[in-house]
Amino acid sequence: MSFVPMKELVQKAQKEKYAVGAFNCNNMEIVQAIVAAAEAEKAPVIIQASQGAIKYAGISYIVGLTRIAAEQASVPIALHLDHGTSFEQCVQCIHTGFSSVMIDGSKYPLAENIALTKKVVEIARAVGVSVEGELGKISGTEDDITVAERDAFFTDPEEAALFCQETGVDALAVAIGTAHGQYKGVPKLDFARLEEIVRRVSTPIVLHGSSGVPDEAIREAINLGVAKINIDTNIREAFTNAARRIIEDNPREIDPRKVLGPAREAATQIIREKIRLFGSSGKA
Ligand code: G3H
Ligand code: 13P
Ligand code: ZN
Repeated sequence: MSFVPMKELVQKAQKEKYAVGAFNCNNMEIVQAIVAAAEAEKAPVIIQASQGAIKYAGISYIVGLTRIAAEQASVPIALHLDHGTSFEQCVQCIHTGFSSVMIDGSKYPLAENIALTKKVVEIARAVGVSVEGELGKISGTEDDITVAERDAFFTDPEEAALFCQETGVDALAVAIGTAHGQYKGVPKLDFARLEEIVRRVSTPIVLHGSSGVPDEAIREAINLGVAKINIDTNIREAFTNAARRIIEDNPREIDPRKVLGPAREAATQIIREKIRLFGSSGKA
């Protein structure tokens, strides 16, 4: 199969009340782990690459590896740019074969974010590529966050409605209390805010920073309307910890396959668990 637009996957998920897993890749083994997990679970999946991953592996390797994976797979796969920060980066990804891009204009004032996102939507739509936008700053899950900070960083439901209407994005990333990377404590999600956003916006909602969010909170977020869930840190942990264990247990091992093979297997297992948690098993 060739890549499918992310929009098709998240719209179906939104209708049927599950979420599509969007998993970050950096190398061949992680691409293989994502696809093996999706195949085993008969689940649609989004493979995403950040600008950092593109810099590390090279854009043609990212597209080449994932295209081969998608061609061999029986499940629908989208290739998505994660946190694209410029119009040029989005255009380059579209040109190279991505079926979806995220333009993350969340650091700009609302009007500028809208203008940039709208520009990306216009060119992406012309070639059938999906676009994710972001509103609100995804960070700051400290327990002692003040109400003022909350209102400053978290997604404002009214602005979300305006943003979606003005830009026409296919998916909207929101800030409701999650953060990227490993959490120090247990993240507390602002479900009342999510509910209010979903009430005003029909665009499928994306949850970033989802590694380390308790299963019950993930289920509640899906129940309220989240249709795409991003996972990177949990894959890094599974992959690198498995590799570390092998090296520590076998200090004389020099065959990369003996180190990276079990790491790939560990990544596959955690991705399968997430797919089941998201309710997307059997939805391909
Ligand atoms: O949202 C961020 C992703 O975890 C990607 O991180 O920029 O280190 O590749 P990265
Ligand atoms: P985590 O690394 O916290 O899972 O976040 C992933 C993410 O949001 C990628 O955009
Ligand atoms: Zn993110």
